[in-house]
Order: sequence, then structure tokens, then C-alpha cells
Amino acid sequence: MRVLLATPLLLGALLPSLVSSQAPTFVPTAGSSTPDAGYNCPSSCQPPACKCASKDIPGSISVDKAPMFVTLTFDDAVQPATFDVINSIFNKTKNLNGCPLVGTFFVSTAYTDFWHVTGTYNLGNEIAVHTINHPDMANVTNPDAEIQGSLAAINAFGGVPKSKLTGFRFPFLSFKQSSFASVAKAGFQYESSVVLDPATQGYWPHTLDYGMPYSPQPCTSCPPGPQMVFKGLWEIPLYALLTNQSQVWSSMDPIINPQLNDYDVALNYLKFTFQLHYKTKLPFGIYQHLAQYIAWGPDVQQKKIALLTEFITWTQNSFKDVWYVTNQDLIRWIQNPVTADKMLEFLPCNMPATAKGNTEICDGIDNDGDGIVDNGVVESCQITPQANTMSCFGCPRAVPNITQPVPPLTGGSRKTVPDAGCPDLGTWDPVGGQCVKLTRPKAEPTNFGNSSTPGGGSGGGSGTSSADGIGGVVVAMGGAAVAGLMGLLMVM
Ligand SMILES: *[C@@H]1O[C@H](CO)[C@@H](O)[C@H](O)[C@H]1NC(C)=O
Ligand SMILES: *[C@@H]1O[C@H](CO)[C@@H](O)[C@H](O)[C@H]1NC(C)=O
Ligand SMILES: *[C@@H]1O[C@H](CO)[C@@H](O)[C@H](O)[C@H]1NC(C)=O
Ligand SMILES: *[C@@H]1O[C@H](CO)[C@@H](O)[C@H](O)[C@H]1NC(C)=O
Ligand SMILES: *[C@@H]1O[C@H](CO)[C@@H](O)[C@H](O)[C@H]1NC(C)=O
Ligand SMILES: [Zn+2]
Repeated sequence: MRVLLATPLLLGALLPSLVSSQAPTFVPTAGSSTPDAGYNCPSSCQPPACKCASKDIPGSISVDKAPMFVTLTFDDAVQPATFDVINSIFNKTKNLNGCPLVGTFFVSTAYTDFWHVTGTYNLGNEIAVHTINHPDMANVTNPDAEIQGSLAAINAFGGVPKSKLTGFRFPFLSFKQSSFASVAKAGFQYESSVVLDPATQGYWPHTLDYGMPYSPQPCTSCPPGPQMVFKGLWEIPLYALLTNQSQVWSSMDPIINPQLNDYDVALNYLKFTFQLHYKTKLPFGIYQHLAQYIAWGPDVQQKKIALLTEFITWTQNSFKDVWYVTNQDLIRWIQNPVTADKMLEFLPCNMPATAKGNTEICDGIDNDGDGIVDNGVVESCQITPQANTMSCFGCPRAVPNITQPVPPLTGGSRKTVPDAGCPDLGTWDPVGGQCVKLTRPKAEPTNFGNSSTPGGGSGGGSGTSSADGIGGVVVAMGGAAVAGLMGLLMVM
């Protein structure tokens, strides 16, 4: 196995404290491959409430008829710079339903710009929770405050409805048994921190009603899997990437050290591991830190963006049934599985609400398509001389922390998003305090397998963008807003 984190990170000019605080201190190896003899999940455990750990495709769907799921997850603070990185990948690629690709963002609130959380959410991504201060949760004395506080702050200032904040990941993927109890107590639907080797431990996401059939690594104090029992809580494993010799290669951040300059090797291993998953349709995932795109400078950023974009395009050109989904949609599918030919009904495209003629609502995206996001409705909050955030939900009087995750506002009267969100694809207007109905562009389902310019790849990128609305989705941040954000956010 290759060294995963060889050298300390170079500090980028843009996000020094962000990056140093987010560098993983260790990368766990995959858990033990010996199936735990003590795992005993009865047949009474059935979806939607319960799901035994199993290597079989849910719903007894055959391999050739099952869709192939890919999850892209991104951890840590959301900032203007990380938002630009993900946009430049997601605006070159599309899902089979014609929508922009989506991922799951595990947000730690320290250093986060809440306005960009709002925008990330309203582009169709899933927002999940990753603590306030990003501590090693196996050691902290106040795990509940870290977990519940970050949930509350993201809801209050990011405007993500409570009912949509259903996932949690441990910083550094580090936990002990009682950490899971804290996650369950906070009411999450799923946890996603356990790394498995897909070649030997290809378990689909499952509930922990009967524990785990594997020993979760790197938990030093976790008892054997069967004792990790948490009724109704799902575990979505992280499947390790393998070398082309089937050795565990990386659990997060392929190419964490670009000085090795092994982009071709990484692409080769990504394709190899994907093909292994495809043989059984075990969901595939790439789990990353967007700060790792930025920390090494613009050249590395461009190479990493090109690598992920090329991989995505390759999956779509090579296989006709590859769906990029959020963790929430993956669980929803496992609870109610359908064959690949029914996926458009299961996951229709609801484009982000960006179209000429819309009113500009404070929701982090360019509703009226004039090229400026939230023109005149977003507020700039100078919380302390060092800490700053943009916000659609008012300016907190202090930086959210574990004792006061939702400080009172300095003034104004922005209205909190309802716990259930808005019905019928409405958009929450925090100024008017109501759900409004905005126009969403139509999306044409795509058929990558037989197209000569699939996935918006070479030559296909911008041609259709204004017609299908992708161009409007891409957030062109107003120049003034960007200038104000740069350099100010890193201490928050
Ligand atoms: C894609 O997003 C990036 C980063 O926000 C932006 O610079 C670029 O112009 C966008 N491309 C298109 C085709 O909209
Ligand atoms: C957390 O605890 C583990 C195991 O006891 C220890 O190895 C590690 O150094 C601790 N980390 C911190 C940041 O204290
Ligand atoms: C496996 O990866 C190595 C690089 O690590 C490469 O040299 C070799 O050609 C690859 N083999 C196959 C069959 O792809
Ligand atoms: C949290 O912030 C409040 C101000 O809102 C401050 O009084 C308190 O000391 C802070 N707590 C911690 C642990 O930093
Ligand atoms: C590609 O798929 C579309 C839609 O199913 C179909 O109309 C078209 O004929 C196909 N083209 C080729 C070259 O197979
Ligand atoms: Zn993290």
C-alpha cells in the first residue's frame, strides 16, 4: 500500500488557516475483511425502516438491470473558492436526467461562508453535517454540542431545512462507539465515516439495527461490529479506491500529494476500481476535500478538475446506466429500488430556479439570470474584524460556536426556513418570509452512450448551456461580492 499522506500541505495563499485546519491527520485503512461471525440480521429487518448489511443488490434486481450509482462527497468549510471549484466541474457535466451533477457536502461551520451553503443547496446538492470546529470526535468532551450546534447553525444561517439535514460524517473519519450514539441522538438518518475495501467488504449501505458485519476502522475502542447497534441509523460506507492490483490505495482524496504528479496513475486506478464496482453494481464513491484542490495552487487545481471531469465523462461514455446521486437519494433508492429503465421517474430533473423573468430571491443562485447572484438582497456580515460571512438569513452577532451555535442577529428580520422546506418545488424567500414559485428551466434527459459529444465533454461544453439552463445555473458571483469575500473568510 502506498503512502497516502506523504508530506505536509503547502499552504495556499488563499486559505491558509482553512487548509491547515482541515488536512486529515491520518487516512484509515479499510476495515478487517473477516466477516464477523456475530453478525446476525433477521429477515424481519426490511426496508424502509431496517436494512441488513448485504452484498446483494437491493430488491433482488439483477446486475444488468440495476442502475450504477456514484456518490461524490465534499467535506469541510464551504467558501467562495471551493464553490468555484465544484461549479467548474459540475457545469461541464450532466446527469442522465439532464440536470447538473450533484454531490453531498459535509459542512463544518468554522470558516464557512453561509451564503455559499445556501447556493450549494439550491443548486440541488445535499448539505450534510460535519461539526463546528472539526475536532477529533474520538477525543472531545462535548460531542453533542459539536454535532447539534453545527446542525443548528447550518439550518439557521445556511437556510437548509431541518428535514433535509439528514447526514453526518466524523472529522478525520475518527470516532468511537459512543460517537455513533451522539449522531443517533441528534436525529440523523445516516452516518458516513466507515471505510471498507470494496473487493472484500462490498456491503451496500445498511441500518445498524443489528450492528455491522465488519470491524469499523480506525475505531480503537469500538467493540466487534455486532455491538455497534443503533436502531434505525444508516451507515453509508466509504468504499476505498484500489490500485489496479486490487490493493487498497486511497480512502479519500485521490492524489492528495500532487508533487507525485501521478494523474495518469490515478485515472487508471479510478477506472479500475469503478469497473470492479460495476461488475456487481455496488455504489461507487469519490470522497474529497475541495481545499485539496486549492491548497497547491492554480496548476494543480486545473489538473485535479480535469482529472475528475475526465473520469466522470469516461463513466458516462462507457456505461449507459451511471447515475450521480446524493447520499439521501441513494438511501431512498435502497428503500424503494427500481430498475435502471425506471430511473427517470425515480429521479426526475428539477432544474435550479434560474430563468429570465424570475424575481431575484435571496437563495444563493441567480434566479433572474442577470448574471449577478442575489443582487440587492444578500447581506454582508462583518462579525469581528477577522470574521465575515455573506448571508441571506441575517447577520449573527458572534461567530457560531459550540456554546452559542445560533447567536442572535444584529438587526433586520430575515425569516428562518420552515423545517419541512417549501412544498411543490417552491423557493423560500427569507425576506418576505414565504415560499414562492419560480420558473425552472426544462431539462432534456441525456443519452451519453450514443452521443458524439457526451457529457458536455470536449466540444460539447457550452453549446447547449443557455438552451437547457445549465448556463444559468452556474453562479457568476457579482464582482463586488467576490472582492469582499476574498481574504476575509479564513478566520471565521
Ligand atoms: C463554470 O464555473 C466556473 C467557476 O464558477 C466559471 O468560471 C465558468 O465560467 C463556468 N463555465 C460555464 C460554461 O458556465
Ligand atoms: C485522540 O485519542 C487517540 C487515542 O486515544 C490518540 O492516539 C490521539 O493522539 C488523540 N488525538 C488528540 C488530538 O488528542
Ligand atoms: C497498473 O498501474 C501501473 C501504474 O501504477 C501502470 O504502469 C500499469 O500499466 C497498469 N496496468 C494496467 C493493466 O492498467
Ligand atoms: C461562544 O461565543 C460566545 C459569544 O457569542 C462567547 O461568549 C463564548 O465564550 C464562546 N464560546 C466558546 C467556547 O468559544
Ligand atoms: C441515440 O439515442 C436517441 C434517443 O434514444 C435516438 O433517437 C438516436 O437515434 C440514437 N442515435 C444513435 C446513433 O444510436
Ligand atoms: Zn473534514
